[in-house]
Amino acid sequence: MKTRSLFALTAALGLALGAASASAQTVKIGFITSYSGLNANLGPYMERGMRLYLKEHAKELPPGVKIEFLIRDDTGPNPDKAKQLAQELIVRDKVNLLAGVIFTPNALAMAPLVTEAKVPFIIMNAGTAVITTRSPYIARLSFTLWQSCYPLGQWAAKRFKRAYTMVSDFGPGHDCEDAFVRATKEAGGQVAGSVRVPLVNPDFVPYMQRVKDAKPDALMVFIPAGKTATAVLKAFGELGLSASGVKLIGPGDVTTDEELPNMGDVALGVLTVHHYSAAATRPANKAFVAAWKKEYGADETPNFVAVGGYDGMAAIMYVIKEQKGKLDPDRTMELLKQFKDPNSPRGPISIDPETRDIVQPEYLREVRRVGGALANVEIETLGVAVKDPWKELNKKK
Ligand code: PHB
Repeated sequence: MKTRSLFALTAALGLALGAASASAQTVKIGFITSYSGLNANLGPYMERGMRLYLKEHAKELPPGVKIEFLIRDDTGPNPDKAKQLAQELIVRDKVNLLAGVIFTPNALAMAPLVTEAKVPFIIMNAGTAVITTRSPYIARLSFTLWQSCYPLGQWAAKRFKRAYTMVSDFGPGHDCEDAFVRATKEAGGQVAGSVRVPLVNPDFVPYMQRVKDAKPDALMVFIPAGKTATAVLKAFGELGLSASGVKLIGPGDVTTDEELPNMGDVALGVLTVHHYSAAATRPANKAFVAAWKKEYGADETPNFVAVGGYDGMAAIMYVIKEQKGKLDPDRTMELLKQFKDPNSPRGPISIDPETRDIVQPEYLREVRRVGGALANVEIETLGVAVKDPWKELNKKK
């Protein structure tokens, strides 16, 4: 992705919006995401999703209300940087809202700041379950790893005798492993082994060899979406795990839509559970994908990070409209708790008022060839209104 041109566009837009009349109500949104560092293409997906929603719905803004984005690069999983950026956006730029964030450590580092300053923070990706418990000013429009990995474990226990788990060694990886192992054991399945790999630049080959030696029926992998997913598929293929009878499964991050063209045939047949696939045939998704291609190019396809930005912006528009552009932080949080969209590209979504986490469908998908290209084809709906299972299982009685 041409990050530089996006920055230029952002700067131009910021100037244009900043030049609006002094009487206009401007809502300032501090948007922190990753344009550099690990899997740096994810940030631009989030930003483009957010901008597409705004473009489609700009007419609904109350009269005189303008939106100004203050866009910042947290440089990947870098909690110190994210904290510093959030601090500046809050104190110096006096933003009304914070939004974005691909990586869990960054979101966790920002949580105490948004609590102290009472700045609502709309999370558009970071998926570790605990994040929303760290501040009453956080609402999440993306997903949790428990939402995908727990139903995945329940389903996989019926289909495979022994599954091995491999996850990136950080928050969402630990959540995915915990969720999958728990669901597997509850359903009477067996875990053949579990391994955690470094978040940045792991060499997957030795880990895959270990898996091959253990001869499981399935390998469940979570790694952050982006190039890391392609590295997993490559090592899986090189060591011939598929040929030796190991089925690759995981949450949808491992077959993230934007990387499918780089993965090649080794991805065919990989089974995943996730809330979003660009190949979904729901009318709302077909319209979303068509709008994306019209806006960003015929060869461009959105992914789940793009949908996090898109639906996150839908929630932001809702709180702006309801308050006619004059945002009160506590009222904003009350409104976020009521947010719902029966017609998101991913299906019906809402915010659970008790946890401020998204409630959404989870689909079982298989990578198949559709019209000459690889696609995550939704083959079954495992749940229509899935709440974060970690919070459901740990509810105080
Ligand atoms: C996270 O840091 O929470 C995260 C990052 C990438 C993903 C999923 C979760 O694909």
